[in-house]
Amino acid sequence: MTKLLFVCLGNICRSPSAENIMTHLLQQKQLDDQVQCDSAGTSSYHIGSSPDRRMAAAARQQGITLTGQARQFQAEDFEHFDWILAMDDQNYRDILRVDPTGKYHHKVRKMCDFCRHHPDHAVPDPYYGGEDGFRYVIDLLLDACEGLLEFLQQDGDFA
Ligand code: 4NP
Repeated sequence: MTKLLFVCLGNICRSPSAENIMTHLLQQKQLDDQVQCDSAGTSSYHIGSSPDRRMAAAARQQGITLTGQARQFQAEDFEHFDWILAMDDQNYRDILRVDPTGKYHHKVRKMCDFCRHHPDHAVPDPYYGGEDGFRYVIDLLLDACEGLLEFLQQDGDFA
């Protein structure tokens, strides 16, 4: 079983979207028994909260239901997960700060490294913006998740 952890700041917008989009793609390809997805936030701001309503509405437009409750990223996650996917540069730095010796550096990647159609280097934080921003996050994450799935298949993580 390959274990993926998607990480953003609050764990109520971008990372639960990435988690649920990836699970959706895995179910479509009947690979959901081989890859497990979870998400977390680098901050403690929204611990216990459901995904943001505006984010859930944008996901629903693409047929994806957002589930989960926000939790904070913790050092133990480095051991438990095979890949840790950061939504933006700040998330990436905050994750690596929890690993001062660099032991788990090789497990941490930026989500947009897997985009095949979008030139973006980060998944933009939609929290203080309008509806368009939420829709854009879903489009971008669909692209990145498809690329990530292809990477895992090529990487030999599973058949
Ligand atoms: P997320 O979005 O990191 O994608 O979950 C945010 C959620 C909350 C805040 C910022 C970003 N906030 O400042 O409370």
